[in-house]
Amino acid sequence: MPTVYLNGTFMPMEEACIPVTDRGFLFGDGVYEVIPAYGGRLFRLPHHLQRLQNSLDGIRLANPLENSEWENILNTLLAHNAEEAGPNNDQAVYLQVTRGSAAKRDHSFPADIRPTVYAASNPIPDPDPQIARQGLAAVTLDDIRWKRCDIKATTLLANVLLRQQAVDQHAAEAILVHDGLATEGSASNLFVVKDGIILTPPKNECLLPGITRDLVLELAEKHALPCKETDIPLEQLLHADEIWITSSTREIVPITRLNNQPVGEGKPGRIWQAAIERYREYKDSVRIGIVD
Ligand code: PDD
Repeated sequence: MPTVYLNGTFMPMEEACIPVTDRGFLFGDGVYEVIPAYGGRLFRLPHHLQRLQNSLDGIRLANPLENSEWENILNTLLAHNAEEAGPNNDQAVYLQVTRGSAAKRDHSFPADIRPTVYAASNPIPDPDPQIARQGLAAVTLDDIRWKRCDIKATTLLANVLLRQQAVDQHAAEAILVHDGLATEGSASNLFVVKDGIILTPPKNECLLPGITRDLVLELAEKHALPCKETDIPLEQLLHADEIWITSSTREIVPITRLNNQPVGEGKPGRIWQAAIERYREYKDSVRIGIVD
């Protein structure tokens, strides 16, 4: 039974309970983070905590903890769950802050309530070698979400429906199209390779500023892989040489079929191979404690 953290206490997951009046439950009034840890070491923690702060600011909720407190809690949680995580001890931390619980259901913010703070962790399985050989399928779908997709809000109903629509079409991800531009996946960021250049949409309110996305750009620059932040019109996506999606739990995944058509040569591309090698090197350096 995994251990979780809830409002100041570590406990077995089955003992963790929140009131039915919690605004996370009633309104999806909260924000979250997913932070990988490799070999028990949190990956890019300062970046995740900064994004958490931005999300909290976006919903006008004060951060209930100092960064050092977050760090202590998450490290304690990882230690509790290390045994169940297997020999690599790779875990994904999920943390959530909701506005808390008030007696009366009212859309506007209640006065004097305490936020609910929850964190759990799950083992991260080793990357599936089949994905490196064959890639995955995606479909394009109209982005039906709201206008603040830069906030990592727990209100994910549109993302859930979009992902399920992709799965119903035997695809692993929905690539979302907003005003004719491909922005991101239902739970991932988007990269395209055209004529040897790595392209990704610039950060704005139409997409989540992914921590993996930023690291991919950082590593591309460091290793002289040409890259550029630019809008990606749907037409360009449909004629890409390579398409990748990125997220903390999936790393960099090559998309080799889009809308039932092959992407480029229909197999994981040469530049994806270079990018994933750099990414895995970086991950290994975190595992042994050289960088965070
Ligand atoms: N989702 N865009 C969306 C809409 C996402 O939900 C995610 C991640 C990303 C990638 O962000 P990052 O590289 O920081 O993981 C982009 C997480 C993993 C989730 O909801 O489980």
